[in-house]
Amino acid sequence: MGSAVTAAPGSVLDRLRPGGHSRAVQWTACREGDVTMARHGELGVLLRGAYSHQPQLFGGLRTWSYLRPEARVIGTDASGAAAMAGVLRRFLQVGEAEQLVAVVGLVSVRPDLQGRGVGAELMRRVGQFLGELAVPFGLLMCAEQRVRFYQRAGWHQLTPRRMVYSLDDTREAEPFADEIVGTAMILPVTEGLDEWPPGELRWHCATV
Ligand SMILES: CC(C)(COP(=O)(O)OP(=O)(O)OC[C@H]1O[C@@H](n2cnc3c(N)ncnc32)[C@H](O)[C@@H]1OP(=O)(O)O)[C@@H](O)C(=O)NCCC(=O)NCCS
Repeated sequence: MGSAVTAAPGSVLDRLRPGGHSRAVQWTACREGDVTMARHGELGVLLRGAYSHQPQLFGGLRTWSYLRPEARVIGTDASGAAAMAGVLRRFLQVGEAEQLVAVVGLVSVRPDLQGRGVGAELMRRVGQFLGELAVPFGLLMCAEQRVRFYQRAGWHQLTPRRMVYSLDDTREAEPFADEIVGTAMILPVTEGLDEWPPGELRWHCATV
């Protein structure tokens, strides 16, 4: 006979189990125009905590960095915003192709919840949302130390290639970055991995 012990979401037992915190989080995908000011306030707290090394990015109710997302996947718990990712559909020039992607960014988990599987659940929900949007691919750029996290969530690292992109679309015009990027990740959604076009990426915008 197996153990009949079960844990209610949010209970002490639930919290002790691997991934338990991820079950205490409620998830929603929300279009940008439907995010309330109260929610922006909570998201600001989340972002300032998760990106504490970049405090200049998220002041007051500013809850985006270089380009405002069109939608967000948001996790909440009893303490407020627990996790979030931003999503924005764009056409990028990839080699000879005009490629529709969902740019993903602002990926964040509240510091007290990190390392317990909430981020993995967030990325699972992001994948689900991109499926609902029926985009061919998700695309993001990340730090080297985050590559493994995204790979575990089903994302694939592109081989290093030239990328030309705006550093920040929320300020005055400045020269685009033009560099070899080795940490761009794609998520095949409605297309297969082999359908990603070869060549350099010209964003003509910033990343989310
Ligand atoms: C990156 C980030 C979103 C990950 O969220 P998270 O909730 O910590 O992610 P997870 O818990 O799902 O996984 C993180 C690590 O904890 C491990 N982990 C997951 N569940 C675990 C558990 N129950 N017990 C111990 N470790 C666990 C994972 O294996 C993973 O290990 P890895 O770093 O070797 O891949 C979060 O750390 C964050 O907000 N960081 C600051 C902002 C940031 O850098 N965002 C990404 C920008 S590209």
